[in-house]
Amino acid sequence: MTTPSSSRLPPRIVVLGTGGTIAGTATGDPSLPGYTAGVLGVEALLKEVPALGSLAEIQAEQVANLDSKDMTFAVWTRLAERVLHWLVQPSIQACVITHGTDTLEETAYFLSLVLPPDKPVVLTAAMRPATALNADGPQNLLDAVRVAAHPEAHGLGVVCVLHGVVHAARDVAKISTHAVEAFSSGERGPLGEIEGQNLRLWRQAPQERGGPFSLPAAEAWPRVELLSNVAGADGAVVRCLLSNPAVHPRLRGLVVAGTGGGTVNRELEAALEAAAAQGVRVKVASRVGPLRGGDDDGLSAVKLRVRLLLELAATEAPRRPPMETPAEGVAR
Ligand code: SIN
Repeated sequence: MTTPSSSRLPPRIVVLGTGGTIAGTATGDPSLPGYTAGVLGVEALLKEVPALGSLAEIQAEQVANLDSKDMTFAVWTRLAERVLHWLVQPSIQACVITHGTDTLEETAYFLSLVLPPDKPVVLTAAMRPATALNADGPQNLLDAVRVAAHPEAHGLGVVCVLHGVVHAARDVAKISTHAVEAFSSGERGPLGEIEGQNLRLWRQAPQERGGPFSLPAAEAWPRVELLSNVAGADGAVVRCLLSNPAVHPRLRGLVVAGTGGGTVNRELEAALEAAAAQGVRVKVASRVGPLRGGDDDGLSAVKLRVRLLLELAATEAPRRPPMETPAEGVAR
């Protein structure tokens, strides 16, 4: 695969900032580990990478500035709305999102379910704060824009670009608490890699079943809780959730990270059956890795929860009003 032709106009790309370690600053000595995520604005991150100017005409927008452990449905909604706002404009080729690593895989999968799949949306992040002497954010940002600007990225949909590797939103997971190679696509493997200035794609992006889903209205996000099957799991948590009138909104779904091939302690299983009999949707993934077969595409438990949230919200009233269409017209 080659680099984009230098005779073309540079692609227009919007970089949306949401925070994370990539926008984090050290609280003291930059060689020490302590730092605060989500401090610097996206404009400041872009300034650190002058080479971006040779790849694309960049526009920046700050959507949020948080530690992604604190991600909310409201920020997800705002992010999806802003990405859509930009992507429907014919002159915009792609969006890049800077994000924290902790919930990157959830945000990426959520976006892959609510956005049309043609124009690229590339999430990136960093394991070291922007003030670290060996910060990984600038290179990741450059790589993310390189992928977003590449003509062959059209049709990739939502991907994550980290440490020179391109991961599909469905497959990517954070697997290290400290290494810069912190992400993996597991046994399915990544979509491709950046080799020097080139993008090398190894396989097609997976198509998301049933999408794009509509964005839920603020009051239509259901409650879907995530449990694990562990030694001693006796279903008490499920019974508490069902019987507590203070749980708001009412429990609509349960996802279990089961053991092995998706097995569940018999006491927890009985509690789940009681929940299902009361109309709660129950889904089981595995703590170990993708389950083979079945209807859920081998999704991890956190991603199965994202899908279930959107499936359940689609049956809730009221729906959101249709997305705004800019005067410039719809691109596709
Ligand atoms: C976060 O997820 O916002 C903090 C951790 C990180 O970005 O590595």
